[in-house]
Amino acid sequence: MCVAADWRRVYWWLVLQWVVGVALAGPCAQCCDCLPKLLMVNCSSRQLNSVPEGILEYAQMLNLTYNHLKTLMKWQFSGLTQLRELDLSDNMLTIIEVEAFFGLQNLLTLRVSRNRLKIISVGVFAGLPNVRLLDISENEILVFLDDMFREMPSLQKLEASENDLVFISNRAFSGLINLQELNLNRCNLTLVPVEAMSQLTGLLQLRFCRMGITTLPNNSFRQLSRLRDLRVSHCPWLDSLAINSLIGLNLTSLTLSHCNLSSIPYSPLHHLVYLRYLDLSYNPITSIQSNLLGDLLRLQELHLVGANLLRVEPGAFRGLAFFRLLNMSSNRLVTLEESVFHSVATLEVLRLDGNPLACDCRLLWVMRRRLQLRFEGQPPTCASPVQVQGRRFGDFTEVELPWLFICRHSRILTRKPQDVRTDEGHTVLLFCEADGDPEPSITWLSPKRSLLTGSGRIRVLSNGTLEVRYAQVQDSGYYLCIASNAAGNDSISVSLRVRGFPSSTRNRSGPFFLEGWSFVSGQAPGNGSHGSQPFPFDVKTLVIAVTMGFLSFLSSVAICFIFMFLWSQSKGQIKHTATIDFVPRSSASAGGCGRTTMETGRFTMKLV
Ligand SMILES: *[C@@H]1O[C@H](CO)[C@@H](O)[C@H](O)[C@H]1NC(C)=O
Ligand SMILES: *[C@@H]1O[C@H](CO)[C@@H](O)[C@H](O)[C@H]1NC(C)=O
Ligand SMILES: *[C@@H]1O[C@H](CO)[C@@H](O)[C@H](O)[C@H]1NC(C)=O
Ligand SMILES: *[C@@H]1O[C@H](CO)[C@@H](O)[C@H](O)[C@H]1NC(C)=O
Ligand SMILES: *[C@@H]1O[C@H](CO)[C@@H](O)[C@H](O)[C@H]1NC(C)=O
Ligand SMILES: *[C@@H]1O[C@H](CO)[C@@H](O)[C@H](O)[C@H]1NC(C)=O
Ligand SMILES: *[C@@H]1O[C@H](CO)[C@@H](O)[C@H](O)[C@H]1NC(C)=O
Ligand SMILES: *[C@@H]1O[C@H](CO)[C@@H](O)[C@H](O)[C@H]1NC(C)=O
Ligand SMILES: *[C@@H]1O[C@H](CO)[C@@H](O)[C@H](O)[C@H]1NC(C)=O
Ligand SMILES: *[C@@H]1O[C@H](CO)[C@@H](O)[C@H](O)[C@H]1NC(C)=O
Repeated sequence: MCVAADWRRVYWWLVLQWVVGVALAGPCAQCCDCLPKLLMVNCSSRQLNSVPEGILEYAQMLNLTYNHLKTLMKWQFSGLTQLRELDLSDNMLTIIEVEAFFGLQNLLTLRVSRNRLKIISVGVFAGLPNVRLLDISENEILVFLDDMFREMPSLQKLEASENDLVFISNRAFSGLINLQELNLNRCNLTLVPVEAMSQLTGLLQLRFCRMGITTLPNNSFRQLSRLRDLRVSHCPWLDSLAINSLIGLNLTSLTLSHCNLSSIPYSPLHHLVYLRYLDLSYNPITSIQSNLLGDLLRLQELHLVGANLLRVEPGAFRGLAFFRLLNMSSNRLVTLEESVFHSVATLEVLRLDGNPLACDCRLLWVMRRRLQLRFEGQPPTCASPVQVQGRRFGDFTEVELPWLFICRHSRILTRKPQDVRTDEGHTVLLFCEADGDPEPSITWLSPKRSLLTGSGRIRVLSNGTLEVRYAQVQDSGYYLCIASNAAGNDSISVSLRVRGFPSSTRNRSGPFFLEGWSFVSGQAPGNGSHGSQPFPFDVKTLVIAVTMGFLSFLSSVAICFIFMFLWSQSKGQIKHTATIDFVPRSSASAGGCGRTTMETGRFTMKLV
């Protein structure tokens, strides 16, 4: 155990030190190593229960790590005015009294990590005007109180990761005008501490990891206009970014990895025109769409590792003229076409390993550039076709290339002309099977040359067959099937003729009518995708409706005649009993037969 300093011995020791500069002896030696050349006192791993007294005043570094310290008293280190670095990590500190570090006016670095602090009172860090780095990581701190760091105006880096933070008070960071770097990893925060962070106007780098947030709200980082590097990672519930969440930022580096984003947040990112580094790895992102990243003019690196990527659309990186590194290891990409890039000439590093790549003509550009490109020791590997399965891109020789990395032009197999005839109301299938390498995609165009989709009454099935349900006369015409792949297109035209029923034999209860109605209700004024169906009723339906209307008109006229005939009969009877020479018009018009009544009236009058 350390013994209190004997001041005379210290004095003599100091004199000795001053004059001769020999190795140290004295109280320090009893418990700590004193390394005079380094001006360091090393009390690491000495099973100390309290801070030893008599530590030399001129020491610049004091290492108290791996001891059993539980509390730090008020003014514990007073007198150590020369101290620049104090390390209290790996102890059992639960209490640090207010002003414990008072007097350490030259201290630059204070480390209190891996202790058991649950709370740090306001005033603990009083009297530390020069501290640049404060490390309070790996404690059990629950809250940051208002003004906690107020008396550390020089603080540049605050390392507060691995705590149990559930709340950061709005003014917790007040006074930290020089803070440049803040790490808040593994907190139990469920909200971004927007208000508290708005005080950190000098912040350059901010790291958030393992937070329980589900979304980044609008204006999350306002006031942080000097922030250049934002890293948000391991937030498994974070699945969206509000459109204005990153507004106010001017980042050069952004990491949003190990979260639950299902697509690239194009809109929230688009104002980051100085962004050079973007890491969206380990998010369930399945595709990169074309032409949506072009605003990120200066982007140089994109990392999208382990993201379930299936497809990078042509033109995805259009506009990115400085793009030099693409890291897409461990995805599900079958290919990466040259057309996705603005220019492959700027590309230096390409990581495509861990993807089920099809080594056909679409990847020939990588082979051609394999000497200029760096694969960082992990060249891509072919997964198909079978003859090159498992071979690495670096292993191919120049002479092999014309026989490998080739595509087979798409070719429609059902070549014989199809002439399909059907009756109205039936369902017909138009076949189009194609072959090629890579597997061709099949599209169908209607007789009016609009693209048919996978939904609607006339739709393209997943196997390329066109299905026309409840065929109607106006569906007749020439349908065009196009099979296309990277090597070329092939097409055939299929004729469909639909024969209409005469209107009298129409099966009115049939699905044709039901379909017509459901079509009207489901697809409001539909044009475009259902180009084949310009109007919800076909001509035939209209004819029937008009015919039926006309028939009912005729029958009502006939009923009127019958009614008037009976009425005129009754007129005759009246004549026998009384002399009536005038028929009141109003009683007749009550029959509802307007004009006909007038004629009858005249006739009646003649009888009289
Ligand atoms: C301080 O002491 C510990 C334990 O004795 C030792 O492991 C460590 O290397 C020392 N540090 C320096 C800088 O000498
Ligand atoms: C913080 O989260 C961790 C893991 O999610 C959990 O074990 C711990 O109990 C939480 N702490 C508090 C204070 O909620
Ligand atoms: C974010 O701001 C935009 C534009 O002001 C607004 O349309 C959107 O609804 C806001 N989102 C949220 C989550 O508040
Ligand atoms: C991630 O998002 C998907 C839906 O997009 C959801 O089913 C899943 O539960 C989410 N994961 C977590 C950890 O919240
Ligand atoms: C954004 O950052 C870039 C590079 O860090 C800098 O050149 C530019 O002036 C900044 N723009 C604004 C508006 O602060
Ligand atoms: C690509 O990402 C992986 C995983 O994050 C990383 O290990 C590797 O260093 C990255 N490669 C390059 C060239 O940055
Ligand atoms: C395509 O699928 C439909 C329905 O699933 C089937 O009737 C048709 O025969 C298939 N066409 C071909 C060419 O296999
Ligand atoms: C194949 O068709 C697509 C459109 O379907 C077109 O963009 C492409 O240029 C065509 N390719 C060839 C080789 O004709
Ligand atoms: C009329 O349509 C119904 C329903 O689809 C069908 O069951 C019936 O066979 C059809 N009758 C005639 C004569 O086509
Ligand atoms: C319908 O057609 C009009 C004019 O032809 C066009 O402007 C509009 O975009 C179309 N709507 C859809 C959904 O395709």
